[in-house]
Amino acid sequence: MLNKNEIEKYLKFYNSEFGKEVLKEEAKFVESKLKNCKNVLSVGCGPALLEVRLSQIHPEMNITGLDNSKEMIVQASKSIHLEYGGAQHLKFDDNSFDAVLYVTSIEFIKEYKKAVKETNRVLKPKGKILVLMLNPKSNYFKNEYMDRNSYIWKNIKHTNVEEIKEFISKYFFIENEEYFLGIKKGETIASKNPGLASLYVVEGKKHGE
Ligand SMILES: C[S@@+](CC[C@H](N)C(=O)[O-])C[C@H]1O[C@@H](n2cnc3c(N)ncnc32)[C@H](O)[C@@H]1O
Repeated sequence: MLNKNEIEKYLKFYNSEFGKEVLKEEAKFVESKLKNCKNVLSVGCGPALLEVRLSQIHPEMNITGLDNSKEMIVQASKSIHLEYGGAQHLKFDDNSFDAVLYVTSIEFIKEYKKAVKETNRVLKPKGKILVLMLNPKSNYFKNEYMDRNSYIWKNIKHTNVEEIKEFISKYFFIENEEYFLGIKKGETIASKNPGLASLYVVEGKKHGE
């Protein structure tokens, strides 16, 4: 459970110039990947800042944000649909979403394998799973992980992103993997270099009729 100070610190990051830039770039990236999706679920949405941005760009999208932290989800704007609950037991019907999104959340989910199976269940045939993970090879990650007070160090559950990708590939056809969002000297730069890119992205498709 996060305390008040930890939540404030988390939100303060997104209020900083650097945090705003990160959010802008992430939202632009996700938007480009989910353009034609109508019903979108974001698992581990936290304060759902990216999801709210996405819904402003695409008012026609039905976006649901889910998180198992009450402290996080109460921070989210009610302009999108919000659900409190665990990724390992999704409270949605089979075949109900066009896309399921994880923005730096799958690696924070203890039972991520159950979450991947559940994602498969709730996605429509040929639906998309889009997973953005913190890239452990990046300098950004290494610096954060060295700090014993950081959110990342305190909360991350899995740091082997290759293993996560392998597991996803058991359930989905992997359409793309890439590195994204370079960070250098506290600024975002366009770089796909694994040492600089803060995110590792996996895109998969549910097998369909
Ligand atoms: C690093 S935060 C990312 C939040 C948000 N996506 C963002 O980009 O700011 C990880 C999130 O995953 C959520 N989380 C961890 N385990 C979860 C679970 N089992 N079910 C749902 N959400 C979970 C945490 O509560 C937290 O909000």
